[in-house]
Amino acid sequence: MPKNNKFYVTTPIYYVNAKPHIGTLYSSLLADVAARWNKLCGKNTFFLTGTDEHGQKLAECAKKSLLQPKDFVDLMVPNFKNTWKTFEINYDKFIRTTDEDHKLAVIKLIDQLYKNDDIYKSVYSGLYCVPDERFVVTNEAIKDEKNNYLCPICKRALIEVAEESYFFRLSAYEDKLLDFFEKNPDFITPKERMHEVVAFVKSGLKDLSISRKSVEWGIEFPLESEHTVYVWADALTNYLSGIGFAQKDKEQDFDYWWPADLQIMAKDILRFHAVYWIAFLMALKLELPKKMLVHGYILSNGNKMSKSLGNVMDPEKLAQMYGVEPVRYYLIRQMSINQDGNFILSELENHVASDLANGLGNLLNRTLTLALNNNLQKLKAPDAFNTETLALREKCEEAFRSFWDQMNHYSYHVALADLWTFIGHVNAYFHRMEPWVAAKKDKDLFYEIIYASCCSLYTIGVLLWPIMPGKMQELLKSLGHDFDLKNNYEQELRDNKWTKNFILTKIEPLFTRPENFSKKLEKPISESKEVVSNDTKTELSCDIIDINDFAKVYLIVGTILSCESVSGSDKLYKLQVDLGKMGIRQILSGIAKFFKPEDLVNKQGVYVTNLAPRKMMGYESNGMMLFAKDEIGNMKMVTVSGFVENGTRLS
Ligand code: MSP
Repeated sequence: MPKNNKFYVTTPIYYVNAKPHIGTLYSSLLADVAARWNKLCGKNTFFLTGTDEHGQKLAECAKKSLLQPKDFVDLMVPNFKNTWKTFEINYDKFIRTTDEDHKLAVIKLIDQLYKNDDIYKSVYSGLYCVPDERFVVTNEAIKDEKNNYLCPICKRALIEVAEESYFFRLSAYEDKLLDFFEKNPDFITPKERMHEVVAFVKSGLKDLSISRKSVEWGIEFPLESEHTVYVWADALTNYLSGIGFAQKDKEQDFDYWWPADLQIMAKDILRFHAVYWIAFLMALKLELPKKMLVHGYILSNGNKMSKSLGNVMDPEKLAQMYGVEPVRYYLIRQMSINQDGNFILSELENHVASDLANGLGNLLNRTLTLALNNNLQKLKAPDAFNTETLALREKCEEAFRSFWDQMNHYSYHVALADLWTFIGHVNAYFHRMEPWVAAKKDKDLFYEIIYASCCSLYTIGVLLWPIMPGKMQELLKSLGHDFDLKNNYEQELRDNKWTKNFILTKIEPLFTRPENFSKKLEKPISESKEVVSNDTKTELSCDIIDINDFAKVYLIVGTILSCESVSGSDKLYKLQVDLGKMGIRQILSGIAKFFKPEDLVNKQGVYVTNLAPRKMMGYESNGMMLFAKDEIGNMKMVTVSGFVENGTRLS
């Protein structure tokens, strides 16, 4: 395909110190929707994502886990690949900065900058944010009440660094950058972000440190082996190495795909992309990316969802509760790309119930049921349409045009809102025309109503494919059409001729009303243990603890000898537990709502036995019994699969 018909889209590459969450999923989902949308528009697309695996933060996390850095990152990367797979994030390449061919690209970058005289050696002395891997100038840092410096972006403590470093002459690119921004006013969407970048460059650029002497976990700096490449110079290069830069036999691929057509990121890392990255590319004399799409943060109760705040939502859990595509739909429908937005479970449930199950799902269901119950399976275009149907056809054309326009301007949430207005029109038409009456009195009219619904559903199914690919393929199949990117859907929908044939098949409802999990969870979503991961609020949060931490917890097998209710409490049971050589212990447990005493007596369970004793309703509890909660909050006892001696320690 000619180069002017290609579309190369990238996401940031994610740090692997914690699992992906809804916030990181959002960036990848936007890229997936953009890639699929461009496929639908007939473009040849390439979608790159991956993981950022070097640097001080990752090295510290690995150390805490008593693992070598490479073993640590190898352990964490599958978390990303698995979640992207669950959410149908259909990338073409997953790049890891520990890949050998990526390293070659980074070495080439540094070599070229050096040959260009864009690099010199000096000393960096100043502040550094380890979680963000960012150098911070003193006048940008903020201070806490004890006068400690904090990162202006993530508000976490900064460290002082004084070390030899190689510098990139960023200051020399000030004018070129400003000139580029002036000539390309639409380079950054939304425009406000462009103003911020321009203001930052105009305030004066300092040269950028691009090597770290005190950090071993990184790519060896080509000019001096005691240094490693600064993690951002390493990471940004992924956008080149991911399509073959500096790789033998891949020159053609690289020439074809570069420059990137769309680079997606949240606002926290725009400066790295719009200033440092663009300056590197200018130094390499490469073409510059066409567009940067900068999205807001997904918030949880008003705070940025982030692993370090411990308020993240687990995408896998949400997928189990609501299904993958309803979650994709909610994220795209509810979040306005340009702004921060709260992720609210009750809102998700409302959208799934009203938009998907009622609005779209019912329309399909009623159309198919009514048609098939009246022996209408194969449909051809009627010779003419009445005025009501012609008006609906016109609305269908408007819906297509506005959807097309909004999607091409990255207003995905508006595109969806408008399309649902059209779905409302189709439903209203269906009601007004009373096909169930026409089925008995006027077969031609009945046929026309069903045909008009099918044409509308066909347009809706094709347009929604980038957001809910699996469900829309099912929808189209129920109308007798396989979704196939070889079709020129754009032309077909633009023409809106309504001449297609349909062969109808009944299918299971596409969407069901979700259970009201948000009510069951009682607490706000961000506090609820069911969907919020238990990341600790440590400076550098890691999902992994080291073996010494684990060894501190005594997990002991014991048998419940007796179980009594505690007067004055409808939750508590008082248990006497035989812990073998550790004796018999009294343990209180808030499980009365879930078990009868006879369900528990004589059962073997697992207990934490070295917790400090605790008084509950006047009784001392000397341990904690372990349970797992299912998704609606029912407790299941943790047991061993066969009998073992009471007092056995889990290892
Ligand atoms: N490794 C760097 C990026 C290097 S790109 C060359 C990094 N990684 S990160 O794991 O911290 O991910 C940053 C990106 O994840 C953000 O820019 C954003 O795209 C996404 N998000 C992380 N938390 C998010 C939210 N709460 N909301 C929306 N996006 C979020 O920075």
